[in-house]
Amino acid sequence: MATDTSLSLAFPLASRLNERGRLEVGGCDTIELAREFGTPAYVVAEDDLRARARAFVQAGRDGGHGDFHVVFASKAFPCAAVLELFAREGLWCDAASGGELHLALRAGFAPERIVLHGNAKSEAELRMALRHRVGLIVIDNFDEIGRLERLVGEGALADLGPQPVLVRVTPDVRGETHEKISTGQADSKFGFSMADAPAAIARVQEVDGLSLQGVHAHIGSQLLSLDPFRREVAELAGLGDFPVWDIGGGLGVQYVDEQPSPPPIEEYVSAIVAAAHANGLAERRLMVEPGRSLCANAAVTLYTVESVKQNVSRWVAVDGGMSDNLRPMLYGAVYQAQVADRFGGSTRCVLAGKHCESGDVIVREAVLDDPRPGDVIVTPATGAYGHAMASNYNGVPRPPVVFCRDGDARVVVRRESFEDLAARDVV
Ligand SMILES: Cc1ncc(COP(=O)(O)O)c(C=O)c1O
Repeated sequence: MATDTSLSLAFPLASRLNERGRLEVGGCDTIELAREFGTPAYVVAEDDLRARARAFVQAGRDGGHGDFHVVFASKAFPCAAVLELFAREGLWCDAASGGELHLALRAGFAPERIVLHGNAKSEAELRMALRHRVGLIVIDNFDEIGRLERLVGEGALADLGPQPVLVRVTPDVRGETHEKISTGQADSKFGFSMADAPAAIARVQEVDGLSLQGVHAHIGSQLLSLDPFRREVAELAGLGDFPVWDIGGGLGVQYVDEQPSPPPIEEYVSAIVAAAHANGLAERRLMVEPGRSLCANAAVTLYTVESVKQNVSRWVAVDGGMSDNLRPMLYGAVYQAQVADRFGGSTRCVLAGKHCESGDVIVREAVLDDPRPGDVIVTPATGAYGHAMASNYNGVPRPPVVFCRDGDARVVVRRESFEDLAARDVV
């Protein structure tokens, strides 16, 4: 049993070890949650989502920048309850496909607060965005300008008036992060190169049905230093004088204690505001698009240990894995784990999933308290890109999402059933 019971920053703000040494999230005992809702399960401290959204908005106000907007990157946690919560907090929503746009509208985001992204938007997606007259379409490439030009000339769409758009550029600014989530380098699949940006801007300005509002960039994700954001703002500011500047997302979060701590939300926002002011954008609209930093640390995943064996390493296998958290397998993302009612311990082990791939390892170097079959394992910081990237590999139903607040728990996404697995089959 642990002697030090302080929780890592990776855990939700609204979490603690209770008198029985059990993890509580949003006032709910995780051992009881596992019993009631089963495992695997994503457990979300609902108030954490709210607190982080408010921190972003407040930081904009405190930074003295009146026209500052926070756009939730819905790809991070696309479920109705999360979207509705952020819509109620007054955030905007970043949708990167027709499906995400549908979910955003369905969750109550006003169309004028939706930003449509994508490096390969289909005609149908563009048409949908135009029809709903979303706040901004972020144009990624010359083909898309041509496609939009044709669409905004069509009768019913032309009657709606000019569609506000941004031009996305890749500013050749690299933050320190995994190459698979780095997007701001010159050789990127996202946006126009800086060399092409002036021509793209001029071309968009020629289209009657488009109203160019400004530029956008997103340099990457899980960034733990603020300097790349400052460099990004300086690069963008050289592109001209526009009313809107969208800096993208990317603020990193705490996954493991060994990593550097991420800058607090307030510092991140104030660095962006300061950089904008230093580059002559004080009177302009500023937008940021956080995903991970709004929701990763608000949630934990609960698993149950199914087997423990010694094959050179001590292998602790749980009832989930790459079907509920793909990030470790996709790009080596690191997580930490604990036995939910026995934090601490000294058993070095590999926390493995149940899937038919050797790479299905959730935590390569876990240290747990003598894990045994039946134990509930918790991995924190799974609120971003977990549920979002979940799959049915090996016929595993996707887990529920459980919101916890002040000791009450409610299912906001139900667990899939075996029947759901066959629901799309046409026989
Ligand atoms: C355009 C855009 N904006 C925002 C985000 C959110 O990034 P993060 O979750 O790192 O904040 C992404 C992530 O891929 C993105 O592509």
